[in-house]
Amino acid sequence: MLYQWAADALKAYVPLEEKQIMELLEVPPSANMGDIAFPCFILAKQFRQAPQAVAETIAEAFTDPLIHAEAAGPYVNLKFNREHYGSLIMRELEKGKAAETGKGIKVVIDMSSPNIAKPFGIGHLRSTMIGAALYNMYKLAGYDVVSVNHLGDWGTQFGKQIAAYKRWGDDKALSEDPIGESLKLYVRFHEEAPEDDSLEAEARDWFRKLEAGDEEARRLWTYFVEVSMKEFNRMYMRLNVRFDHTLGESFYNDKMQTVVDTLKKQGLLEESDGALVVRLDDEGMPPCLIIKTDGTTIYPTRDLATAIYRHDVMKAERLLYVVGSEQRLHFEQVFSVLRRMGMDWADSCTHVPFGLMKFEGKKMSTRRGKIVVLEQVLDEAIARAMSIIDEKNPELENKEKVAEAVGMGAIIFGDLKNNRVNEVDFSLEDALNFDGETGPYVQYTYARTQSVLAKGSALGKAAVQNAEVEISTNVGVLGDSGWELLKLLTKFPEQLQRGIRNNEPSVLARYALDVAQSFNQFYNKERIVTDEVSTRSARLQLTHLAGLSLTRTLQLLGLQTPDRM
Ligand code: ARG
Repeated sequence: MLYQWAADALKAYVPLEEKQIMELLEVPPSANMGDIAFPCFILAKQFRQAPQAVAETIAEAFTDPLIHAEAAGPYVNLKFNREHYGSLIMRELEKGKAAETGKGIKVVIDMSSPNIAKPFGIGHLRSTMIGAALYNMYKLAGYDVVSVNHLGDWGTQFGKQIAAYKRWGDDKALSEDPIGESLKLYVRFHEEAPEDDSLEAEARDWFRKLEAGDEEARRLWTYFVEVSMKEFNRMYMRLNVRFDHTLGESFYNDKMQTVVDTLKKQGLLEESDGALVVRLDDEGMPPCLIIKTDGTTIYPTRDLATAIYRHDVMKAERLLYVVGSEQRLHFEQVFSVLRRMGMDWADSCTHVPFGLMKFEGKKMSTRRGKIVVLEQVLDEAIARAMSIIDEKNPELENKEKVAEAVGMGAIIFGDLKNNRVNEVDFSLEDALNFDGETGPYVQYTYARTQSVLAKGSALGKAAVQNAEVEISTNVGVLGDSGWELLKLLTKFPEQLQRGIRNNEPSVLARYALDVAQSFNQFYNKERIVTDEVSTRSARLQLTHLAGLSLTRTLQLLGLQTPDRM
């Protein structure tokens, strides 16, 4: 909004296209200098003057009655009339529309994608949270977005799983703790395989049977899938995440032969030590393995079939893969093979990588079974949130619900506030700090807006309802801190766009922190619920808009926003 207004006003004095002016505009380094700064360097040649002189010429010529212009070195600083523009901003914000820049563009987001018969790992948690936030962001911007949980429900590991089960499986233990027991079997397999060659052979054999549709193999596989899904769904419920499709790797079984045939026909497949690969030497990458020596397919083969399905059948125009950075090479290989197959849309495939996450310094590895079980971490976060609430606000209603919202909020926000490719060392204590850069801090600030509003409207409904009538004459009473907050609230659409452009939810998490901080400054500076009605209503109106911005942004990130904390 502000940039648009500034450019509108400037265009009468500056011989540039409006769009070009918009791109040049900056925010001055300190708030008392003005709201927007226009740098004059680019005009020096045209004006045949030093940038400083250009700034003065423009400032002097400026006659807009509602925008004050002042030269400061090579910049023209603009100050908006707060009464006029403040009420305009409030009215716009009240409408709360995000620009629908993505209208009709179909985006398929591959997210979460845990592996059957293995615990839901930390990478899957990150993928779920980042993916869900991206999903909401794209949706809000008008994209036609579809989420897919690409379950790891196929591959030689199922041969191992079944082989281990056949040797050591304990049905009773399995029914009591399906994933824990499956994992034990899997770990034991890896422990004993180096000393016992027959194990690997059995595993390969079972996987081959599974791919061929053998009845016993199928039955055991189905069992593993079902028990795992039950556990994963518990996780999704807590995270409040749903998927438009759950299509595991097995779904592409009957779609892989075509891919292999095409690769063969195109002369892209080469033999290498008994396996079939696509060579990628010219791009400095190792070959992409398509068919293993034992004739079975592999992860990249399934991803090729998957991408083609998403493009051809689901009609995806953009394909996002929210998967850990450790799979960077895998995706580069897959996308490169697609390109070589002549799929020009391969360029619309994007791997959205993210870094490792450690919990209190502990790394997680499923292979060796050293796992901090995630649900325990979530439970712990919620228990700690509960004890903080007990201390701060023991009388609070619905304490359990609030503790759940705050505990989960701490985890989700603690993840999403980081640039996603960064490694995160997660500390529950930091994530739950109500005064830190945390979800609970923002949630608490939102609850503060709601309690201020409740107090304000107790003084007379008119205060909030008439606000709109009052604003037009009364924005001045918001003070400097209120004005800064109001301007910040206008930035939501551009933050959303930036978040989408970079597939980066942290942009919005940071924005929520800024809004919370800015609201708290306003709250500490100005008495919101004052006796003077018109002052009160303008300040309440701003409080209302800040609250709106906070819930909206937090919900986008997957956090709940209780009204009381
Ligand atoms: N199941 C895989 C894993 O846990 C992640 C799958 C990601 N999606 C994909 N299309 N490859 O490592």
